[in-house]
Amino acid sequence: MKLADNKATLSFSNGSPNVELPVYHGSVGPDVIDIRKLYAQTGMFTYDPGFLSTAACQSAITYIDGDKGELQYRGYPIEQLATQCDFLETCHLLLYGELPNADAKKKFERTVTMHTMVNEQMQFFLRGFRRDAHPMAVLTGLVGALSAFYHDSTDITNPQHREIAAIRLIAKMPTLVAMAYKYSVGQPYMYPQNDLSYTGNFMRMMFATPCEDYKPNEVLVRALDRIFILHADHEQNASTSTVRLCGSSGTNPFAAIAAGVACLWGPAHGGANEAALNMLHDIQAQGGVEKVGEFIKQVKDKNSGVKLMGFGHRVYKNYDPRAKLMQETCKEVLGELGLHNDPLFKLAMALEKIALEDEYFVSRKLYPNVDFYSGIVQRAIGIPVSLFTAIFAAARTVGWIAQLNEMIGDPEYKIGRPRQLFTGSTRRDIKPLAKR
Ligand code: SDX
Repeated sequence: MKLADNKATLSFSNGSPNVELPVYHGSVGPDVIDIRKLYAQTGMFTYDPGFLSTAACQSAITYIDGDKGELQYRGYPIEQLATQCDFLETCHLLLYGELPNADAKKKFERTVTMHTMVNEQMQFFLRGFRRDAHPMAVLTGLVGALSAFYHDSTDITNPQHREIAAIRLIAKMPTLVAMAYKYSVGQPYMYPQNDLSYTGNFMRMMFATPCEDYKPNEVLVRALDRIFILHADHEQNASTSTVRLCGSSGTNPFAAIAAGVACLWGPAHGGANEAALNMLHDIQAQGGVEKVGEFIKQVKDKNSGVKLMGFGHRVYKNYDPRAKLMQETCKEVLGELGLHNDPLFKLAMALEKIALEDEYFVSRKLYPNVDFYSGIVQRAIGIPVSLFTAIFAAARTVGWIAQLNEMIGDPEYKIGRPRQLFTGSTRRDIKPLAKR
């Protein structure tokens, strides 16, 4: 970051001395006011619950322009990555800063492939869960459990250890997600098959059985690979910030990623894709497109507590570029499967059209986000609704670990420890029980 030729001067109406604060430029996007010395100079904190105006770190990985609806990984537009690259090339880009050439791609694919198996003991963790446990509960447990196998071999101050932990996590997440799915349907686990692509291997672990050969449908593999690319990273979102804060204590990467999985589960975040599909199902059950008007009325009624899941975003105040690409993928997959008239897709398109013409949504700049169409594609591919967020977690793992490694590799990093505005009781003495 570069010192700007601009400064911020804080003045106080009570006559306290002015404070000058440096301003820094990044390579693109908003400048930042450096407030690190503010408390020492003024005895005051800034106040920004939800971090609407706070940059918690500097990063070179992902850039979002919310007003223009632009998303770039290491400078490459998501539209180009989603159509010209595959997920493992995108992983290489996010981790190392560059797209691989042919040799590097082959080497990286081989390295990841050789880490897709998990320790045989991992299967015994699943037995503690009910078969109908939510896959995100299972995944949170399994990812945390990986610490038990690698905790002692992960010195996060060692760049080589950080890299192998990243490879292990990227390689093993699909295996763990597939195991959670197989456990829920009472089928045997399928071991990874090294002659398949990353996403083809995942499809096989999910849908094959030991009883017959399974050949992944390449159109569906490509669609799922694109879903992984679209979900790979997204700047300092809630789960990535969770991973950074958790990792800042020096804990091992597996524990930090498990914290990210837990945060992503929330319906305001990664859980929105499951919630969005359930919302579409509910509207469909109540009568479909004819009922959209009534549903929108509920959404606009603050007391209903009903939100249009898959709409709105803290950063995008324009169309989420990933939603556009997801809608196109929807059309491709539904076309491939002969589901041109899929009622849920038609309902989603109708809902989007009505919402985007409605003053409530227009005035609040609420547009479809990545979660609005992703559930329809995943359902068409055969992925159960309850597994949608686990798929999101598998895709986001590369972003989480790239951001964590970037933070730990930054000599300036410290343990994250925000302060507060205290509004509770001031000091008071305890009265004896008889007098309370
Ligand atoms: C993801 O941060 C990321 O980058 C996340 C993500 C990633 O890749 O990591 O992009 C993935 O989490 C996408 C978002 C998925 N969540 C949803 O689709 C759930 C529905 N969306 C909302 O919960 C909401 O839009 C958020 C949480 C996404 C954003 O909330 P903000 O920025 O805190 O905005 P807000 O809640 O203050 O809303 C502003 C106004 C409010 O109305 P008023 O109080 O001004 O009258 O818009 C309204 C909100 O009530 N509003 C909605 C709405 N989202 C916001 N009203 C109806 N339906 C919605 N979906």
